[in-house]
Amino acid sequence: MTYRHFLDLGDAGGNALAAMIHDAIERKEARRDWPKGQTDADAPLAGRVLAMVFEKNSTRTRVSFDIAIRQLGGTPLILDSGTSQLGRGETVADTARVLGRMADAIMVRTDDHAKVEEMARYAGVPVINGLTDRSHPCQIVADLLTIVEHGKSLPGLKLAWLGDCNNVMNSLVEAAGLLKFDMAIGTPQGYVPDPLYIDAARAAGSAITVTHDAAQAAQDADVVVTDTWISMGQEHAEQKLAELAPFQVDARLMAKAKPDAKFLHCLPAHVGEEVTEDVFEGPQSVVFDEAENRIHAQKSVLLWCFGMLAAATP
Ligand code: CP
Ligand code: NVA
Repeated sequence: MTYRHFLDLGDAGGNALAAMIHDAIERKEARRDWPKGQTDADAPLAGRVLAMVFEKNSTRTRVSFDIAIRQLGGTPLILDSGTSQLGRGETVADTARVLGRMADAIMVRTDDHAKVEEMARYAGVPVINGLTDRSHPCQIVADLLTIVEHGKSLPGLKLAWLGDCNNVMNSLVEAAGLLKFDMAIGTPQGYVPDPLYIDAARAAGSAITVTHDAAQAAQDADVVVTDTWISMGQEHAEQKLAELAPFQVDARLMAKAKPDAKFLHCLPAHVGEEVTEDVFEGPQSVVFDEAENRIHAQKSVLLWCFGMLAAATP
């Protein structure tokens, strides 16, 4: 059986990422207005079981993968760390070997990125990163799909990231390098983006700038993106909130971007912190399209993992 792990966007590369977006658009259109639980006409993953392991909370990732595998004809199975032996200290390696015997693919949400890498080493079936402290590649497939659906072409696009340097940002930076768009990161002094992703994106030819001036980051952007200031597993720190306050996405900041700029947020949002209510609820916000697109994106990721996606040109 052909299988591939999806631990980071780079595992797929630019052509496959473009193919995922293309496939997601086609599958989404083909089932427009169908009941959500109805299987796609070709049921490409009929008979396959997707095991999902959660060591952190989730709404969108959990529901979208559950619905995605059903729409592809397969069956979901969920393990929460609190109710499985993983939560009592069974090793990742043993968990991977057991799940790999019982399921056809594994999606994992955890803290340490090394855990998904270990899962991939031992599973013998595709392993998908459903968020680690380091990256969130599945989210970014949905984000890119949303950007393209809203009429924007990725090569040459300027994406502004405002706020914390976190897992979602790392995967956006990786996507910039793979699909040739530019990124301006507006973040406080002392907040340093992970060089692993920045260096690779720059080496691929993308302009990735880091500024401590929020307005400069947002200037002429096609897309403005932010995320929570306190990610899962981080301490709630008043000092961090104060440092990030100048990077809140508000109407004044959106006015610096292009007039047709879109606002994205992976959710869950903390309205009043990283984004104001008028922007979050306003006409430029596409956050609920983005959330819905998690289903369509996850289907493409699953198909790619099983070697069922043809490559496309970015
Ligand atoms: N955006 C995202 O991954 O949401 P969940 O934490 O709800 O899965
Ligand atoms: N950066 C956030 C993303 C949640 C989907 C977190 O890690 O909590």
